Amino acid sequence: MRFLGIETSCDETAVAIVEGKTVLSSCVASQHDIHAKFGGVVPELASRRHTEMISLLLEQAFKDAKLSIDDIDGVAVTRAPGLIGALLVGLSAAKAVAYSKKIPFIGVNHLEGHVNAMHLTREKIEYPHIALLVSGGHTSLYLVKKFGDYKLLGATRDDAAGEAFDKVARLLGLGYPGGPIIDALAPKGDENIFKFKPPKFTNQSEYDFSFSGIKTAVMMHYKSLSNGGLIKERDMLNLVASFQRAAIQMLVKQVVKAAKGHRCGQILVAGGVAANKGLRARLKKITADEGLNISVPPLELCTDNAAMIAFVGGEYLKLGKRDDLNLNAAAVEEIGT
Ligand code: KG4
Ligand code: ZN
Repeated sequence: MRFLGIETSCDETAVAIVEGKTVLSSCVASQHDIHAKFGGVVPELASRRHTEMISLLLEQAFKDAKLSIDDIDGVAVTRAPGLIGALLVGLSAAKAVAYSKKIPFIGVNHLEGHVNAMHLTREKIEYPHIALLVSGGHTSLYLVKKFGDYKLLGATRDDAAGEAFDKVARLLGLGYPGGPIIDALAPKGDENIFKFKPPKFTNQSEYDFSFSGIKTAVMMHYKSLSNGGLIKERDMLNLVASFQRAAIQMLVKQVVKAAKGHRCGQILVAGGVAANKGLRARLKKITADEGLNISVPPLELCTDNAAMIAFVGGEYLKLGKRDDLNLNAAAVEEIGT
């Protein structure tokens, strides 16, 4: 069964065709160039660019897969969470394809797409497992008992991890999106110069996260080091490296605690921040030491893509689910209980 997937929840227009667990084509058009000068995503500009790109990407995805629109058996589209205007562009395109071809139409939660992206690799994923979702909008830990069965164990109490990377990069004048930039610069600095301690808060779930304290600590150090003028390059690199170390420490500590607490030998990492080389290396080391199995998708499946949406749509169709063409978009929607 071949599924067309469409993803337009934020600043990537993406279209893919997936057959079971095989990606036949996956096209992604990033909008980073148009949002960079604003230091973050401008929703109206995102919607307009999706509108300009969606037909081109649909054409490209069919061309790359050497298929025509008559060769697909269903359409899956991200319906939540995300920017409403952006989501509606993808939703409208997906409805048009499903309506004209009279094929099943399925709305997919973007977070569920990320959590299942790993299935599109050859690796066998054991259930139950712990999934760490780290993206620009979310930082959450789930216990996944089987496909579609997610228990939310903890989440960030303030900024998402990717959001903290982006905000720190903006503060230091490094550009947007900040995650890949900080990832590239961090190895050039000394991560032990500044000790950014994880925050202590009361009443939190033992699996929650917090990044805003680390971000504020970076800001205070930046202010005192620059003293109203320019910061030395060495200080800036040390700040970047120390920030990344603190953010990684928080993520790794919670995910390992969750795996041990739920006796899960398998950890899965998903979302844009999973592309971070420092995080991948640290997770690999610590899980090997703890006897845990870690699976992190290749970079193109970490960041936003439509293959993960097509896969989830295909799995739900197998379970007998399909949506009406009056399905609406939603800006906010968690997965799990
Ligand atoms: O999953 P994603 O592509 O979009 C959302 O659903 O949010 O994640 C985007 C986020 C951005 O905040 C970006 O800075 C971050 O992922 N990111 C990274 C890296 N690559 C992307 N953060 C740290 N290191 C990276 N290499
Ligand atoms: Zn995402």
